[in-house]
Order: sequence, then C-alpha cells, then structure tokens
Amino acid sequence: MSPAPTSWPDYLSDFHRQRPGITEDVLSVSRSRGGLTPYDWITAPIPLGARTLDLACGSGASLRVRGRDPWIGLDRSASELARARRAGSTNVLEGDATSLPFGDESFDAVVCSMALMLIEPIERALDEARRVLAPEGFFVATLPGRRPLRARDVVRYTRLVRRLGLVRLNYPNMRALADASALARDHGFELVEDVRTRFDYPIATSEESTRFVRSLYVPSVASARIERADALAATWVGSSIGIPLRRLTMVRASTKRER
Ligand SMILES: C[S@@+](CC[C@H](N)C(=O)[O-])C[C@H]1O[C@@H](n2cnc3c(N)ncnc32)[C@H](O)[C@@H]1O
Repeated sequence: MSPAPTSWPDYLSDFHRQRPGITEDVLSVSRSRGGLTPYDWITAPIPLGARTLDLACGSGASLRVRGRDPWIGLDRSASELARARRAGSTNVLEGDATSLPFGDESFDAVVCSMALMLIEPIERALDEARRVLAPEGFFVATLPGRRPLRARDVVRYTRLVRRLGLVRLNYPNMRALADASALARDHGFELVEDVRTRFDYPIATSEESTRFVRSLYVPSVASARIERADALAATWVGSSIGIPLRRLTMVRASTKRER
C-alpha cells in the first residue's frame, strides 16, 4: 500500500530530519572524469574571495570546499544544519530560501547545490536570490539531470524506477527548469552556461548501495517498494553508478523584465 500523500515541504522536512547529510554522503565520494566532486564543480565558477551565500546548504559540503572565503550557508532543516556544525561549518543559519534574512545586494555570489528543483515556489527563490545579489553577481545551481549516462547506468535506472513503481524520478520544479534560459530572464538573470557532467558513485558495500537508494526523493512510494529497490541496488556491489548532474550559471542582469 502506498503511504498517504504528503506535501513536498512536509516530505522534505521528514526526509532531512531522518537522514541529515545523506546528499553529501553520496556526492562527496562521487567523481567526475576529471576527478572533481559535485561540490568542487559547483564552486568552480565563483571567484576567490567573493561574498557567497550557499542557499539550501544542507550539511555544508560546499561551504567546506571554500572554507577560507566569506561564505555563509542557509537551510530550512535544523537537522542538516546540526550536522554542518558538527563537521565544522559554523557559519550557517536556519531560514527559508523564499524569504531571505539578508539585505539587498549583500552577496557577490549565490550557490545552490541540488535544491533549486525542490524549493517552492521557485519564482520566489529566484527573486530573493536576485535581491540579495550585487549587480552582475553570479548564481550557480546544480540539479539532477537525465544525461550524460553510460548504457549500463541507463539500464540500472530503468530497472530501479520500475522497482519503485515510478516512471521516472521527478521534482516539483523540473518543468520550470526545462527552459532555464527563459526562467532566468523572467527573474532578472542571464543564463551564461548550462552544462552537464556524469559523476561516478562507487559501490563497494551493501551499505553504500542502500545509501544511494535512500538518498533519492520518492514521496508516495511504499517502504516495501523501497526495500525491493535496495535489493536490486545490492546486486551492483563491486561496481558503480553514474549520477548525471546539470550546472546552471546565471549572472544578475541590470534590469528585470516586468511581467
Ligand atoms: C538535496 S539537499 C542538498 C543539500 C546540499 N546543498 C548538498 O548539496 O549537499 C536539499 C536541501 O534543500 C533544503 N531546502 C529545501 N527547501 C528549502 C527552502 N525553501 N529553504 C531552504 N532550504 C531548503 C533541504 O532542507 C535540504 O537540505
């Protein structure tokens, strides 16, 4: 039987209370062909020394990549922030991306790792990011993608989503983000780069295969189905799976189009 449907915000709150830092646990050991983690990749476009907001920072992995820079993290999950602090990221505060507790033009850059597809309403989050950014400030976001993947990854994801009883993994803002250029323009940004990379997540043990499955957002999927997905992923021990990510780099435009 499927669990009773909950709203995305309620599902997210429970998810991050129950498993704080699971995104970091998976992504921090994943590597691109060039040896980068997704946190190295998202922080790469940000100039050294830029005053930066890590929006929806979770357990603070991006903050620690740029530990010496004036970065601050914000997240709505107290459990994620507690883990960030335990790991040494004390420059974090609890808050909502749709109502930022910062003055206008306080930052040179905003980064948002693996969260823009979730934050509702995305329009309000973009407007707030623009408000706190200085003119020509950067907004860099990473998102789950559907490519690039190797043939073996495609077969594995197809079987995995079938076990979960889904057609595909989905998130509230994927439709809005399909035309990222128009979305950026409508909220006073210019999209200057839209790139994709595959990160390889190594699976040496069944704990690591289970961690991968449990890091996926699957609201309304019954626990029996998730356990069947765990059993499938356990057959991948001794290999790896690709995690396809997309990175958007936007620059704050001087004017915002009236809608
Ligand atoms: C997939 S995790 C990514 C965490 C971290 N950025 C990383 O990449 O490791 C998504 C994060 O978005 C946060 N989040 C979701 N909606 C939010 C909102 N409206 N305001 C602030 N944080 C939010 C969640 O609490 C969670 O920590």
